[in-house]
Amino acid sequence: MLRRLHRDQPESFAFTPANHAWAEAQLSKFPEGRQASAIIPLLWRAQEQEGWLTRPAIEHVARMLGMDYIRALEVATFYFMFQLHPVGSVANIQICGTTPCMLCGSEDLVGVCREKIAEIPHTLSADGKFSWEEVECLGACTNAPMAQIGKDYYEDLTAERLAWIIDELAAGRVPPPGPQNGRFASEPLGGPTTLKGWEKGRLPANASVTLATAIGDTVKRIDGSEVALRAPWRDGPAPSGALAKPKAKAKTAARTAEAVEPGKPALFAAPKAGKADDLKQIKGVGPGLEKALNDLGVWHFAQIASWNAEEVAWVDANLVKFKGRIGRDNWVEQAKLLAAGGQTEFSKRVKKGDVY
Ligand code: FES
Repeated sequence: MLRRLHRDQPESFAFTPANHAWAEAQLSKFPEGRQASAIIPLLWRAQEQEGWLTRPAIEHVARMLGMDYIRALEVATFYFMFQLHPVGSVANIQICGTTPCMLCGSEDLVGVCREKIAEIPHTLSADGKFSWEEVECLGACTNAPMAQIGKDYYEDLTAERLAWIIDELAAGRVPPPGPQNGRFASEPLGGPTTLKGWEKGRLPANASVTLATAIGDTVKRIDGSEVALRAPWRDGPAPSGALAKPKAKAKTAARTAEAVEPGKPALFAAPKAGKADDLKQIKGVGPGLEKALNDLGVWHFAQIASWNAEEVAWVDANLVKFKGRIGRDNWVEQAKLLAAGGQTEFSKRVKKGDVY
């Protein structure tokens, strides 16, 4: 692919004072005369600051490193991670179009981008919030089709799900990244067939998604609110308490991401009034499934009785080892009866101790 600098370029570029200090610190990592080794982190920082790499930014970095402009230009035009055209103010959406993703529907995802963002890749949407491009394999083929949005991967996508994600981002919300079909990570769609030691439902998301959600920087750009950029190899360890502020922010980010998860029903960390219902009175719920439900935050018949179709789908997706049980045994109808104080033939047998 031909990678050229954009025809419209700004007059100048300068790092913000914080980024300049960070860039200077990067230079201190390398022996005298080897500062050119910092070219990629500095170009990346410039891109983080502006959204894309402008010619003045490339030249600015080259001057800082004592390099010829052409050498810095070679690096910027070689690596696809450097954006040489303006990108959306909210996000640049990178759709993987390599074979596994293509076979699983990436062309439909490209169709969504053409429709919602712009017909031509590397073009800004009418409101300037989004841009898109097709990229080569991003190494998440087992969760095809997928897209990189900001710093995170959104996997197991459908056209509808991508359209929803774009709408959420446009509204200022950041949907949780990771698998979008209820998979925990990259286990088989029907659930793990090996390494079954971990229990689905104990954790709300895999470690990568949890961290991404907690630090809340999926599509966030440098805006001066981040933790002071440090150079611990030069300045020593951070003073204690220096990271306290982002922790508070992380909680807010986690809550925000949680709040926008579609279909997520009301869940409780512990049973109300300290007493859980005996969910095993629902036909199809054994001790293992009851524990998985409790771990998810489901303790009461009334919770299950109130689930709508979307909430059933969410819980089903989070009960990987027990997929399909909710509908198969009609839990919601059973729970409605039990929540109202009624009995089913099965619950009577459980109470009598006839079910083991
Ligand atoms: S083919 Fe899409 S991530 Fe590998």
